[in-house]
Order: sequence, then structure tokens, then C-alpha cells
Amino acid sequence: MTGSVDPRARGDGLGWVTRALFGDPRVALAVRGHPPAGHTVMARYAVLPSVARARFLLPLGSPRATAAALLAYNALRPAKVRAVRAALGAAARTGVVDRVPFPVLTVAVPTGLDAAELLLADRLTALLGDPPLGTARPAGPARCPRSAIYAACGVRPPDPNHKPTLQLFDGTGRPRGYAKIGWNGATRLLVTAEAAALRELSGVAGVAGHPGAPRLLTELTWAGQAVAVTEPLPARVRAVPAGAPPDLAALLAVARRGRPPAAPRPLAGSPFLARLAVQAQGAAGGSRAVPAVAALARRHGDVAVEFGHWHGDWVPWNLGRHGGGLVAWDWEHSGADVPVGFDLAHDAFQRAVVLRAAPVAAAVVEVEAALARHGDGLGLDARRRGLVTDAYLVEMWLRTARLAGAGAGWNRKLHPALLDVVEERLRG
Ligand SMILES: Nc1ncnc2c1ncn2[C@@H]1O[C@H](COP(=O)(O)OP(=O)(O)O)[C@@H](O)[C@H]1O
Ligand SMILES: [Mg+2]
Repeated sequence: MTGSVDPRARGDGLGWVTRALFGDPRVALAVRGHPPAGHTVMARYAVLPSVARARFLLPLGSPRATAAALLAYNALRPAKVRAVRAALGAAARTGVVDRVPFPVLTVAVPTGLDAAELLLADRLTALLGDPPLGTARPAGPARCPRSAIYAACGVRPPDPNHKPTLQLFDGTGRPRGYAKIGWNGATRLLVTAEAAALRELSGVAGVAGHPGAPRLLTELTWAGQAVAVTEPLPARVRAVPAGAPPDLAALLAVARRGRPPAAPRPLAGSPFLARLAVQAQGAAGGSRAVPAVAALARRHGDVAVEFGHWHGDWVPWNLGRHGGGLVAWDWEHSGADVPVGFDLAHDAFQRAVVLRAAPVAAAVVEVEAALARHGDGLGLDARRRGLVTDAYLVEMWLRTARLAGAGAGWNRKLHPALLDVVEERLRG
């Protein structure tokens, strides 16, 4: 476009996000200036707070969608961010954000080309715009116009583990969905896994005590990316405080899915151990992983535990409260057939590593403390707690290796420290 630099050329988060969202070279993009001749403007975004420090792409064009993008899910945000968003959201309702001096990113496509071929938001409009998915539609697109979908996008520093995500609203400001974009090997893997998990979880909806989970609305491959769209979280969902005690009843419901407790079975000969062994064989840096799994089997092989499902990333920041119930999102790492207690171990481990920047060894102490404190409720005596701790650490290292192998690079907080700790614990 005239008079501006294409943000896709930038090396920062804005460059990364705009490359992911507007990857087709036929899409013309500019932070200032006019569309080139022969192009039609399809969308405009305010870049907040500035191009150099971009944190948020705020969709313009519908004051109610703009306001909703600022106000929705504010209860999940830190207080400072919430205050700024609330003030801007109130202003946006009156349309002033369209006129305030935020830089504006303009997105244009060659006139006559189908925007749904070039722009994800337009593709999602075709899929999700009114009439809602799943209702009877009149035949023929011309007879069935879709109300536009407006997409708000957070901007973070580029990271091979991060996925651009879109909050989707219609022109009235109603939340319509939440899209995650897997753009490299590692994130495509995660987005696809989450979609599969959510599809499966729809069969669990209504199980007593099971946390709610957003339903999967649609999954698509788009310009080489894996995109999963879930239904929006309830508008008034509140964050679970970072220090809240773990919800054991909910953890058990996740593990059991409404079935009676599975009879404990020994680690040796379990499908779980067999999977770890296979994954260790194929793992990046697997020369240390294979003996670690063997040592795990030697140490705990005869200990019998209950196996069940897990959420896989059970931490307060993936949980919310709504209408007296618990809501859990971010099911990218969920799976079946793990020792019951893994989610409790993960909760303690991640709170230590992420919230308190604890080194791995200190985080493991927290895991042991959490299992000692709450393990009774999960049927975990001292031997079982030992198994859960060691097996969880091996599982976490294998996850780290899987992401590294898929192009995300090594998580330096966890590698090689996790393997060092595992080897130390299982020595002898
Ligand atoms: N269905 C949804 N509707 C609205 N917001 C969501 C939805 N799912 C997640 N979010 C918000 O986006 C954030 C990131 O999503 P999450 O699934 O946790 O992905 P990540 O793997 O990036 O942590 C969440 O912490 C939550 O605030
Ligand atoms: Mg998350």
C-alpha cells in the first residue's frame, strides 16, 4: 500500500501475527496509507497501544463488535489490563475508537477475488456467520448472506510454541467463537489434538461434577494452518485465583468421566508404560529417555494405580468459574490412560515453575507436597504418590521432547533439568 511498510516484514510479534493471519501475498496490508489501486478494503484493525509495542489487534468497522472485543472476558484479565479495556470499551461503544489516534492496520484484497479464499476472518464468516452453524440454510450463497465476523487478536512476542488466537464477534457484539491457529509443526499438533479432545468431550457433557468445556464448532485446514474454532466461553466467566486449592472432585470427574473408579493395575504391563517406552524411543534426545523409562518401570513396576483421563494442562489459568460450576479450557495435552493424580501433580508443578519461576528441583518438591496433602482423596498412598511423581516427570519431559522434535525448540526451563532430576530420583 502507499506510504507505509508492510507489517509482515517485521521481526516482532506484530510481524509474526500478521504473517500468520494474512499469509497470502495477494493480501495487501499497511499500517497507514491507502489500498493499492484495484483493491478492496476488507477489514481494519486498531493496533494497540502502538505499532512498536503492539499487544492487540482490535477490529474496527462495527462499534459494537469493537466494544465487545475490549470488554468480553475482562474478568479473566489482570486488574490493570481490565481497567484500560473497560475504559476503551466504553468509548468504543460510541464509535470514538474509530477516530482516536491509534495506528490502523488496513487489510485489502484484489477487487473481484473471493475474500474467503484469502482471509481467515472471511472464511470463518462463511462458516460461522448467521445463520448459525447447524441450522437449515437456504441453498446458494447469494440467498444466504452471512453477517460479518470480526476478529480480535492478541499479539505476543514470536515463539514457536505460541498460537495466534482470535476472539470472534458478530456485528452486534455477540461472541461467536474462539479460534486457535496452528502455524508450525508443534502448534499444528496441539491444535489438532485439542480439536480431537473436544470432540470426544462432547460425549462427556453433563457427567456429574465434570468441568464444562467449550464445544468444538469447526476445524479446518487453511493455508497450511490447522485452525480449531470453539464456542465462546460464557461471557461472565471468572478466573480461578492462582492460589485456589485444587478441585479434587473435578479432577476425579475428568479422570473417570462418569464411570466407576477403574480397578488399580500395576505400572508394569500397562498401556501407559508401553506408550512412554515407544515415545522415548522416538524422542529427540531419546538416548537418555529410554533408560529413564526403564528405570521408572524397575522402580515402580509392581505398584498398582488407577488409570484414567487427564486434562493435561490443569492450572488455574486454564480454569474459570461460571454459574457455580467449573469451566476448563486448553485441552491440547489431554489424553487417556494415565495414572490418576497427573493433573494434580501438573497443577503443583506448573504453579511453581510458571508463577514462582521455581527451578525444576524445587517444583518437584511442590509436586510431592501437593500429592501428600491431597493424595488421600485420590486414593494415593506413599508408594502410589512416588509412582505418580516420577511417571509425571517422565511424561512432562517426553512432552517437552515432542514439542522440540516438532520444531518448537527446547523449553530451557525444563530441559535438560527434568531429565537430570528424573535420573537422580530413579538412580539405583
Ligand atoms: N472458547 C474460548 N472463548 C473465549 N476465550 C477463550 C476460549 N478459550 C480460551 N480463551 C482465552 O484465551 C486464552 C488462551 O487460550 P488457551 O486455550 O488457554 O490457549 P494457550 O495454549 O495459548 O494457553 C485463555 O486463557 C482464555 O483467556
Ligand atoms: Mg492456556
